Amino acid sequence: MREILEKIRSEALRALSESDAQIEDLRIKYLGKKGELTAVLRGMGALSSEERPVIGQLANEVRASIEKKIEELSQFAKKKELEQRLISEKLDVTLPGTKVPVGHPHPLSLVQKQLEDIFLGMGYTIVDGPEVEYDYYNFQALNIPKDHPARDTQDTFYITENILLRSQTSPVQARVMEKTQPPIRIISPGRVYRSDAVDATHSPLFHQLEGLVIDKNVTMGDLKGTLELFAKRMFGEDTRIRFRPHHFPFTEPSAEVDVSCFMCGGEGCRFCKNEGWIEILGAGMVHPNVLRNCSIDPEVYSGFAFGLGIERIAVLKYHIDDMRLLYENDIRFLNQF
Ligand code: PHE
Repeated sequence: MREILEKIRSEALRALSESDAQIEDLRIKYLGKKGELTAVLRGMGALSSEERPVIGQLANEVRASIEKKIEELSQFAKKKELEQRLISEKLDVTLPGTKVPVGHPHPLSLVQKQLEDIFLGMGYTIVDGPEVEYDYYNFQALNIPKDHPARDTQDTFYITENILLRSQTSPVQARVMEKTQPPIRIISPGRVYRSDAVDATHSPLFHQLEGLVIDKNVTMGDLKGTLELFAKRMFGEDTRIRFRPHHFPFTEPSAEVDVSCFMCGGEGCRFCKNEGWIEILGAGMVHPNVLRNCSIDPEVYSGFAFGLGIERIAVLKYHIDDMRLLYENDIRFLNQF
């Protein structure tokens, strides 16, 4: 039995040492349940009681030496495999990465940001207001009582008789004046709603930016100066502005404001329909009734307000001939900004 054990040991160690040894197969062959060493150990019952411990010890030694060899070899194999992987998976950190497409602001956001920057630069504060608004702030506080014909041009979506989707950003004027005593100098950009059918120049949802200044001795001259500066910043230093008389219930006097055509400089071209002027906003001196409605004394304070459509500025600035493009989210359109 001793010889058999020695033979198993030397054979096993030799077989394991061969370069292309299949370690797992050899482990089963020698140490497995049906392996050679196990077979020898099974036969130990036939040994005498003196021989049994001696052979038993030898068998353990043989098992231990084979196990040790197997352990060594598998460690080595693992190390080699790791080395192989490190070579084959070599990473060149200087290669350009996979490009992840990054989005960018929508043209309407771009224009809104630019408008905000211009007015922030003049010391205005940005104020938000609710899009679901009371009839009171959207109309009544702004000198547009129920049944006033001016409501027709701003027909909107009603939630209840007295709650509606705001048809203009002007209700923010009323909300601010109600809470704050002058001096007030704010802009309020945001979404507004009107029940208009969609076409190249109309949408039931669009964006406005309202401006409001209230203080002592604010005059129409201040309004003109402010809008002239705004127009130059927005459309270029050569831009001139022109006021045309108009009517808004919440301002008196009121005006529609044009800028000189920034394509032809005012000579008349296709862009300005040969007018030389392009309408961009509505403005005026805040009506005393509006001041009174908001607990501001019109004998002490005066102010101006203006409101513009952000879509209108965007289509002019980027020469977009159909407003619907701004809402369709066609990536071929949006990528151009
Ligand atoms: N809110 C007006 C509109 O939507 C615009 C405007 C605002 C006019 C402020 C004058 C002063 O038509």
